[in-house]
Amino acid sequence: MSPFRRIPLVMTACCLALSLHPLAREAKEADRDVIYDESRVPAYDLPPLLVMDEGSPVTTPEQWRTRRRPEIFSLFANLVYGRVPPPAEPLQTRFAVLRTVSGFLDGMAVRKEVRLEFRNSRGALDMLVLVFVPKHAAGPVPAILVHSFDDTRSPAFQPHPARPGMLRNGWPLGALIRRGFGLVAVYQQDLVGHNEVEFLHTIHALFYPPGQSFPKANEWGVLGAVAWGGSRALDYLEQDPDIDARRVAVMGHSKMGKAALWTAASDERFAMAISVQSGCAGAALWRRRYGETLEKMVTRFPYWLCRNAWKFAGREDDLPVDQHMLLALVAPRPLYVCSAAEDHWADPRGEYLSAWHAGEVYRLLGRRALPSPEPPPLMEPILDRDVGYHIRKGGHSVDPYDWEQILTFASRHLKPVTVSSPGLPENSR
Ligand code: GCU
Repeated sequence: MSPFRRIPLVMTACCLALSLHPLAREAKEADRDVIYDESRVPAYDLPPLLVMDEGSPVTTPEQWRTRRRPEIFSLFANLVYGRVPPPAEPLQTRFAVLRTVSGFLDGMAVRKEVRLEFRNSRGALDMLVLVFVPKHAAGPVPAILVHSFDDTRSPAFQPHPARPGMLRNGWPLGALIRRGFGLVAVYQQDLVGHNEVEFLHTIHALFYPPGQSFPKANEWGVLGAVAWGGSRALDYLEQDPDIDARRVAVMGHSKMGKAALWTAASDERFAMAISVQSGCAGAALWRRRYGETLEKMVTRFPYWLCRNAWKFAGREDDLPVDQHMLLALVAPRPLYVCSAAEDHWADPRGEYLSAWHAGEVYRLLGRRALPSPEPPPLMEPILDRDVGYHIRKGGHSVDPYDWEQILTFASRHLKPVTVSSPGLPENSR
């Protein structure tokens, strides 16, 4: 869950006090224009997925692969998330397994702490990636790599004291292990701050040529750096004998859901993408302007996207892409999108519609897309296709219900071998 949504009681009390503050009142005023009513969603035309920029139709998988996909990718890279420039000097990258606990979670799992270090003469940064695998796996396992809000050095990744099979952060590690999955956690702030504004001591600095001290308008911001870190973690996993790196899904919630989608779009080695309530700049369509809008996002988090994105705030219709095109960049790989009915800020309907429209590309590539332009009823997941979806009751969080559907969908596609090991408590399923 994001730091924004998980405010402890003390903070809530402070916020109540602060809500009397003139600045808080101003922020509330500024949100009065937010659309939470379907009848106020403006009419819009989505940019076509299957028409080349020069106007000719895309009719074959080959044309998609070699021409249209690169066009769309380049638009997202240059106008939305920012492209990763070539580093000023080659990066030296080192991986080191710092610590292995082989009897983790009542002896069911192995937990490894892996340091990834990047260095050149401009600076050095590290990531601490956690890798959990079943102790009794017959061979390399598929895994879910999660972009995490919690620091991988924190107790969040220790066993929950009262909930068997769970990590303290609520991730159901026992259920993953039992199904034969590995779990990989990558911390979002290892390479860039949550709401970074300086970019002087971030991974970006290692890429600046002499004279540059800030990303250019079409260069990566925060989400771009988080996605890059996910790819570097996959570089490591390619060398880890316990993981089958060809079967790694990337997942994230909220801001991390946005990052997960961009990770899968920019790195086709990821076998699947899982978006949990990723909302604005994630699965939701920009043009609906429901809930959070581009303008709201760039006002609060100016550098999550690249600076070019600012130019479209309030002018979403001028964007040459919309987010169904981001989801289509995941095709033909399986894609799972989750929404929550009360998470209006993330525009659940916009998330579904985007996944529905991305279906055009899945169908062109011979895959099974969502069946209807209307979302399914609450708590009726669509799990039997290459694009899956559910909307559950409740608000902005990753609930056990979400995990259960995600693991069912991922099991169908990534085909883990169920691990039968004695000792894992039943209720960790
Ligand atoms: C804020 C932000 C959202 C983001 C969310 C989160 O609410 O506006 O875009 O998804 O934080 O990461 O929880």
